[in-house]
Amino acid sequence: MKIAILPGDGIGTEIIAEAVKVLKSLDLKFEMETADVGGAAYAASGHPLPEATLNLAKASDAVLFGAVGDYKYDNLERALRPEQAILGLRKALGLFANFRPAICYEQLTHASSLKPELVAGLDILIIRELTGDIYFGQPRGRRTAADGHFPGSDEAFDTMRYSRPEIERIAHVAFQAAQKRSKRVLSVDKANVLETFQFWRDVVTDVHKEYPDVALEHMYVDNAAMQLVKAPKNIDVLVTGNMFGDILSDEAAMLTGSIGMLPSASLNSKKQGLYEPSHGSAPDIAGKGIANPLATILSAAMMLRYSLEQPEAAARIENAVKKVLASGLRTSDIYSEGAHSAGTRKVGTAEMGDAVVAAL
Ligand code: IPM
Ligand code: MG
Repeated sequence: MKIAILPGDGIGTEIIAEAVKVLKSLDLKFEMETADVGGAAYAASGHPLPEATLNLAKASDAVLFGAVGDYKYDNLERALRPEQAILGLRKALGLFANFRPAICYEQLTHASSLKPELVAGLDILIIRELTGDIYFGQPRGRRTAADGHFPGSDEAFDTMRYSRPEIERIAHVAFQAAQKRSKRVLSVDKANVLETFQFWRDVVTDVHKEYPDVALEHMYVDNAAMQLVKAPKNIDVLVTGNMFGDILSDEAAMLTGSIGMLPSASLNSKKQGLYEPSHGSAPDIAGKGIANPLATILSAAMMLRYSLEQPEAAARIENAVKKVLASGLRTSDIYSEGAHSAGTRKVGTAEMGDAVVAAL
């Protein structure tokens, strides 16, 4: 089993180091190879996704990814910005199925911005289509407007599009995930306005015929954004397109009060996957040793489960994380003054990683 380790920028190196520590403490044999990605790769070799990094990712069973991005690269031309590394990897590896769980851990209920009773026990699985939609649709660009409200002026445009097989395969992923959970799927679209998402609704409805044991509900994206803060526990598996999934997954993550806890997986049809924390590179706290490594450690657990066929090792890591939380250890993002019982203690990145290894 080969794992590509891509730490990236900001807190990426610190959090990945803890996940690697955890992986090494398991009695499993992996080959791990590290490469630059994002701003770090641009600084070292002039491109956010160098060919060597891309080739390593392609040749690996899984990629463990930290985070990319830093303010200092914001003014580069788009093709050289750190974000292009993650978009390029998704596209090159065909990682169309993105799993973003939003789980509210029992001990962290108070950290949510919503009332505890609305989020206690929250366990939503967002399944975001990741290689289509307006993110990758062609054509896109800038030009002189030929028509519209201001003909002759500069304009910019992107293309929202989905083909039937693209929608079918993500719908299958969602229905199959629901079969292992509460057997309910909420498909989110904008069928009242967009042709692309009327088609999405039609195709999801067609695929649903193969899953009579799963209940399917459709919802417009604006209403879904509202329901996520009104009654989030009514939602179980939520499937949607690339752009709506980007937005709703951040919203759902915040409900849990602990974006530093949330892992994610992006899979292709061969079960090759990229695993990364749901949070970003947090350049403001980089290098301080205070970032929460748990989202990355839990991403490594997802990697063991989905790409490396080691479900027991995955469960061991997840249980170790729960144990560490129960023991009262908190990084600063999940620590709040006064809301804790005695025994709660603030720790840094490395101490948290060490505690998970000890619990294992
Ligand atoms: C995410 C991020 C990315 C996205 C950016 C960094 C390109 O926001 O993974 O959600 O928009 O998909
Ligand atoms: Mg996002």
